[in-house]
Amino acid sequence: MRRKLVAGNWKMNGNLAANSALLNELVAAVGHGAPCDIAVCVPAPYLAQCQQQLVNSAVAWGGQDLSSHGAGAYTGEVSATMLADFGSQYAVVGHSERRAMHGESNVLVAQKTVCALRAGLIPIICVGETLAEREAGQTTDVVGDQLKAVLDLLEPADLTRIVVAYEPVWAIGTGKTATPAMAQEVHATLRALLAAHDPVAAAGTRIVYGGSMKPDNARELMAMPDIDGGLIGGAALKSVDFLAIIAASSAASNAASSAQ
Ligand code: 13P
Repeated sequence: MRRKLVAGNWKMNGNLAANSALLNELVAAVGHGAPCDIAVCVPAPYLAQCQQQLVNSAVAWGGQDLSSHGAGAYTGEVSATMLADFGSQYAVVGHSERRAMHGESNVLVAQKTVCALRAGLIPIICVGETLAEREAGQTTDVVGDQLKAVLDLLEPADLTRIVVAYEPVWAIGTGKTATPAMAQEVHATLRALLAAHDPVAAAGTRIVYGGSMKPDNARELMAMPDIDGGLIGGAALKSVDFLAIIAASSAASNAASSAQ
């Protein structure tokens, strides 16, 4: 069974004092062992703070984006090795906010994925359709094209080192969540695409859901067979909500293993 991942995407939120309180609360509640993998993906200036506060805890950390270049004259960019220098294990890649607001193409997202892997980071690769695309019946094509661009640049062995995040754009920050059945349908499509690349490795690839995941809907989403965790925005900013989602993930895993 794939180990679930509950990752927070703080987006452009936080300050030293608020982060400190949030991270302390997470570490105090989670301790050194956790029933799922846990991570917070934070604004780059706060990576050092995460390294200080989370070292030796069960909470990993990472960035929200990275450059598709290794080093050089790229003002404002942050490289994969810089994220790794601060102990990051993860990097969100191709979030819909970056695709929409910074014009990131499928090919650029694929190049960033490769940079993350080369630096030893686990890329959390976001895919998802807009409401107009869903209503036009294009969901499978859109997420398929987004994922295929990445797969074109990967080796089969890489499939166990990536996380795919299905984040329907219409569900992000809107309070509208995909139903478990809707999300499962897309996750199964994504897994089939991964399997076409390498059937054995694809069985181990984690595909997480993001988009208004909250304590009250997390368990039923994560109970679906191809939903291996969550990428959480708003609810990751409050320890009580994030911890409740972690607990929901454990409950979903326990129910699945006792059903086996
Ligand atoms: P919300 O959980 O706030 O909808 O954000 C989801 C998201 O974009 C995570 O990357």
